Amino acid sequence: MTDTTTEQATAAASGAAATEQFRSRLRTDAAGVDTKRVDTLVTELLAAAHDIIRRHEVTYAEYDALKSWLIQVGEDGEWPLFLDVWLEHAVEEVAGASREGSKGTIEGPYYVPDSPVLPAESALPMRDGEDGTALLFQGRVRSVDGTPLPGATIEMWHADNDGLYSQFAPGLPEWNLRGTIVADDRGGFRIRTVQPAPYQIPTDGACGKLIDAAGWHAWRPAHLHLKVSAPGHQLITTQLYFEGGEHVADDIATAVKPELILAPTPVADGDGREVTYDFVLDKA
Ligand code: DHB
Ligand code: FE
Repeated sequence: MTDTTTEQATAAASGAAATEQFRSRLRTDAAGVDTKRVDTLVTELLAAAHDIIRRHEVTYAEYDALKSWLIQVGEDGEWPLFLDVWLEHAVEEVAGASREGSKGTIEGPYYVPDSPVLPAESALPMRDGEDGTALLFQGRVRSVDGTPLPGATIEMWHADNDGLYSQFAPGLPEWNLRGTIVADDRGGFRIRTVQPAPYQIPTDGACGKLIDAAGWHAWRPAHLHLKVSAPGHQLITTQLYFEGGEHVADDIATAVKPELILAPTPVADGDGREVTYDFVLDKA
C-alpha cells in the first residue's frame, strides 16, 4: 500500500501499542517467585505439549512451523493480542468464579487508564458526526445487598464504527470513545455513544497466519468494554454485547456470556437506540 495520507492499522503497530500499555501496569507481584508454583505449572504445561506431540505424531516440519510462528509472534509484538484472544477467558473464569454480582469477562489488550473524567450524564469523547448508530447506555451501580453506590466510576472504551480503537489504530483522536463516568448520588449514569462495529483482530501478522492456517475466522462480536468500581467494592472488568449481532455465538476470544448480551430498543422520540443495564458489585 503506497497511500501515505491514510495510514493503515497494522498488527505490528497495534501490537506494539498493546505491549507498551501492558508493560506499564503489570498485575504481577514483584516481591518474589514461588518456585514450587512455577515448577508445577510449567511442568504440567510442557507435559500437556509432550502428550499432544506423541498422540498426534508431530513431525519435524510441524515443529519448525511452530518455532518460526512463535518467533514471528514476538517480532510482530502480537503476544498481548494472542494471549488475550486465546487464553485470557480461562484466567477470567477462575478469577471471577466466586463473584456474586455482575458477570465479568476479559479485559483484552486495548484498555488505557486515566481516560477523561465525565459527569453521570455524558457523551463519550467522539468526533463531530461520529459514524454509527447513536446509543444511550444507562443504568445504576449498586452493591450486592442492593445499596446504591453513589460516586461509582464506570470506565468505558470501545471500537468505532470501523472496528478501530483510539490509541491503537492511526488517525483517531487520543481519547475517542473512551471515558470515565462518575455515577450520580443514586449510582445512576446515562452515557451517550455510538454502537461499535464487530472487531476483527489484525490479520496481517502472526495471529492472522494462525487463523488462516487453522481455517478459523478473526472476529469478535461488537462490544462495549467496561471497568466499574466503587469504594469498598471489587472492581469488575466486563464487556457487553448486542443481541443478534454477528459473531455473538462464535466470538474468537470466547468472552461472551449470556448475562452480558444487551437488547437495545429504538429511542421513542429521537435517533438511535437505548438500553438499561445495572451493575452489581461484590464487596471488597
Ligand atoms: C483483542 C481485541 C479486543 O478488542 C478484545 O476485546 C479482546 C482481544 C485482541 O485483538 O487480542
Ligand atoms: Fe475489544
